Amino acid sequence: MRAVQQVLKSGQLRAGRIVDQFEASFARAVGARHAVAVNSGTTALFLAYRALLKPGDEVIVPDFTFVATASMVVAVGAKPVFADVDPATFLLDPADVERHLTLRTRALAPVHLYGCPADIAGLMRVARRYRLRVIWDAAQAHGAKFHGHDVGWFPDVVCYSFYPSKNVTTGEGGMLTTSDPSLAAEFRLARSHGEESRYRHVRLGFNFRLTDVAAALGREQMRKLPSAVRKRQRHAAILTSGLANIPGLETPRITAGAEHAFNVFTIRLNPKILGMSRAEFQKTLAQRGIETAVHYPLPLHRQPIFRGWGSDRDFPTSTRLAQTVLSLPVHPGLSERDLRYIIRTVRAVTEAPED
Ligand SMILES: Cc1ncc(COP(=O)(O)O)c(C=O)c1O
Repeated sequence: MRAVQQVLKSGQLRAGRIVDQFEASFARAVGARHAVAVNSGTTALFLAYRALLKPGDEVIVPDFTFVATASMVVAVGAKPVFADVDPATFLLDPADVERHLTLRTRALAPVHLYGCPADIAGLMRVARRYRLRVIWDAAQAHGAKFHGHDVGWFPDVVCYSFYPSKNVTTGEGGMLTTSDPSLAAEFRLARSHGEESRYRHVRLGFNFRLTDVAAALGREQMRKLPSAVRKRQRHAAILTSGLANIPGLETPRITAGAEHAFNVFTIRLNPKILGMSRAEFQKTLAQRGIETAVHYPLPLHRQPIFRGWGSDRDFPTSTRLAQTVLSLPVHPGLSERDLRYIIRTVRAVTEAPED
């Protein structure tokens, strides 16, 4: 609050010095050479796709993610090609990616869903073999690592969101990280009307700028990120051991070599074994004061906006996941007592579903 107040008092509310500082601290934290702040995760994806794709190019996108990963491909005139996800990790599977390649495939858009890094090594191998660009959707993965490197370090471009549910928030906001200076320069031009110097416009651009007020929040949040992620990981460990061996309930599995940032803690239910539907389970938890969410109730190929873009194919894993996943609270504000209560309640509900 103090940081925001200082910006307000300065009278400089537009993008300025504080945005520069936020970008510098973000780039340092993830180990990337450049970080470019924008006004949402969606615009980050839009700018990344716009810089790397041409109309008609195909991009392989996991079928199980938030809509923007694919809708922004459409927004730049390219075509999202959905691939099914790994049934254990719910993430884009490099083997399945290879089955979807065509001569028009230009890029991969893997998602570090829930904060769990995708199989970065496997996906980069595919990208190198077929000369594909990679745009990583890290909207949920601030602070996640893969073999010791922050997910924001990997080429070509990594896109983040600062929506309030994320590990770092500015209310609304986003960031692109890259180590390619020409891409970074392109993003800076495009986010601000292609303006090279005052009122000299060299490219088609937009107003996708973040404000100093938002950046002040982000800069403070970056300081807290390591401890917030440690808390999330600790909470996830408590939930994972507390919810072990419940028939019909699976806790999250993590990609080999990955450090999950646990933006979301998502369990998978088997309604037949549990003896109740996900909706009933969710309702019972809500009655006992535990808020849960479904990320996501529809796989992308079933979304009305993507009708005809792969709806003729089968995506057994993402289709099943959409019916069976449920996210439990894992945020840093939970106390040990809250976590014990969640575990006790879930155990009680699963042991005696009719109560
Ligand atoms: C996986 C994923 N991609 C993209 C976005 C879009 O980010 P934003 O809401 O900041 O536009 C989100 C967040 O909402 C997300 O979870």
